[in-house]
Amino acid sequence: MSGTEVVAAPGSGRVVRVSGPLVEVEGLSGVAMAELVALGPQRLPGEIVSIAEGIATVQAYEYTGGLGPGDGADPLGAPLSAVLGPSLLGGAFDGLLRPLREAGRWLTPASSTSVAERTWQFEPCVREGDEVAAGAGLGTVRTDGPVALRILVPAGVQGRVERIADPGHHEEAAVLAVVGGTEVRMAQRWPVRVPRPHRGRLDGGQPLVTGQRVLDLLYPIALGSSAAVPGGFGTGKTVLLQQVAKWCTADVIVYVGCGERGNEMADVVAELGELVDPRTGGRLIQRTVVVANTSNMPMMAREASVYTGMTVAEYFRDMGLHAVLIADSTSRWAEALREFASRSGALPAEEGYPASLGSSLAAFYERAGHVRTLGGELGSVTVIGAVSPPGGDVTEPVTANTERFVRSLWSLDRDLAYARHYPAVSWTSSFSRDAPTVGAWHAAQGDPEWANRRGRVLALVADADRLSALADLVGVGSLPGSERMVLLTGRLVREAVLQQSALSAHDAVSTPEKGAALVDAVLAVHDRCRALVDHGVLASVIEEVDWGPLVRARDETAPGDAAGVDERRAAVLATLDALLPAGRAP
Ligand SMILES: Nc1ncnc2c1ncn2[C@@H]1O[C@H](COP(=O)(O)OP(=O)(O)OP(=O)(O)O)[C@@H](O)[C@H]1O
Ligand SMILES: [Mg+2]
Repeated sequence: MSGTEVVAAPGSGRVVRVSGPLVEVEGLSGVAMAELVALGPQRLPGEIVSIAEGIATVQAYEYTGGLGPGDGADPLGAPLSAVLGPSLLGGAFDGLLRPLREAGRWLTPASSTSVAERTWQFEPCVREGDEVAAGAGLGTVRTDGPVALRILVPAGVQGRVERIADPGHHEEAAVLAVVGGTEVRMAQRWPVRVPRPHRGRLDGGQPLVTGQRVLDLLYPIALGSSAAVPGGFGTGKTVLLQQVAKWCTADVIVYVGCGERGNEMADVVAELGELVDPRTGGRLIQRTVVVANTSNMPMMAREASVYTGMTVAEYFRDMGLHAVLIADSTSRWAEALREFASRSGALPAEEGYPASLGSSLAAFYERAGHVRTLGGELGSVTVIGAVSPPGGDVTEPVTANTERFVRSLWSLDRDLAYARHYPAVSWTSSFSRDAPTVGAWHAAQGDPEWANRRGRVLALVADADRLSALADLVGVGSLPGSERMVLLTGRLVREAVLQQSALSAHDAVSTPEKGAALVDAVLAVHDRCRALVDHGVLASVIEEVDWGPLVRARDETAPGDAAGVDERRAAVLATLDALLPAGRAP
């Protein structure tokens, strides 16, 4: 655009072509793949994605309007890296981890540098002269919230502690220690596309308790595992992910808003800021990091945002914490991959997505894990991603590929959502590959019934679906009494257990004990109804019973009130027993 010839500094290049986010640069010498480049007078950030015949192709993370042939391009000597420090918690950032602030109902770039200027209280836990290895703790930094940040010896560094900062307040950029000749700062840098190292994975079945009954009872996710939430337009993906973010049992939540509506993201930030953290009594936002690259922000930074979020989650994992990465929506991320692939003339595979789509998705979900950290502790990153198939078509490439790589699939059903059965998690097309190990974990923790309960519920809803299709054909009246009881209790499972209102103070979250009590209540009712039919009580009489106390139990008892559920179960069973002909025992 500028007519003047840019005189390149040594090592600098010159823009020769700009096509949307794709910028071709010549004359860059000695640069590497994935290196950052500052483009043009505005120094727009971009990343080298290919180098061929003296031309480096750069993926720009900002709008390239105004950039043109002849503009300068300076290599920055490092790949795209996240700055990991205490100001992450409670903050909202763009896809490159630059601070955002909430302005009205939108997130906009923060204008000040206030973040870097803050000081934080540091408490060392080693002394000068100590020998330390990578991953070892050097001290802790107190944050505003419940999470104490541990300052670790970075990967690849070890040796004698030559210097350690005094206890007290230090800036985020301050050097807190010198170990084996290497400076260790409070905030550390890590290249976002490189998984942070650990000592190895564990495959225990300890679940991440989500507080959503349909997930915890039927489609559990283990700590360090991965789940995807595919669902058509408006089926409740965002609400479900937000519920998990609010109530799950993780220490730290990283919420990546990827190409979704900006006002929705601002609402998330505002709501988390209001919400009392059930675990600490503080504010939930104090253990949350929001990475937002909303639909009104440049598309290519979306591509980076999922890796940025993942790196942040791994950073907390490495301190021995359980982090959850939530990405809404991975389909918008895949769109960025497609956009760039089509600009760069790559041979398109299915529906215009690059042939590497599957491997990109696999690499993303594979960064989930429950690991032994370099410092020898246990930490995890659990990954949950929404998928938005266009037109609800689950055979499209992003959904189909994602299904292959995740451990759990929480598939949202349009008909359930339409019938206002929320969360609209389908029991015909969802799965959990973690269910067997989670069942074994529950058994080891003293709940050997967990797997059996799950099996009975799944069988009951499947039987009820089959019989309901049959009843539509032949009429309910022509089904035998025992089958009518399956239809009845199938409905009770759906209404009293699987449905869960995000808007109800009591029902929004459920402990595993309350969920189990609700299931056990419906199963006990089922068994009693079958017994009544066997004793000659008419199905039509049983169907007339007031099921309200059972159906309302989830809403009328507090989130952990299993005993309250048991009381209602006893009342309903008593009502049923009263139907028995005199002199017969139940
Ligand atoms: N668990 C729930 N409890 C109550 N209402 C819900 C629940 N889940 C979804 N809803 C209702 O469904 C609406 C749409 O949900 P949501 O925005 O999460 O859908 P989505 O799948 O994210 O949509 P989009 O495809 O536009 O991103 C919500 O505004 C809310 O009214
Ligand atoms: Mg949504």
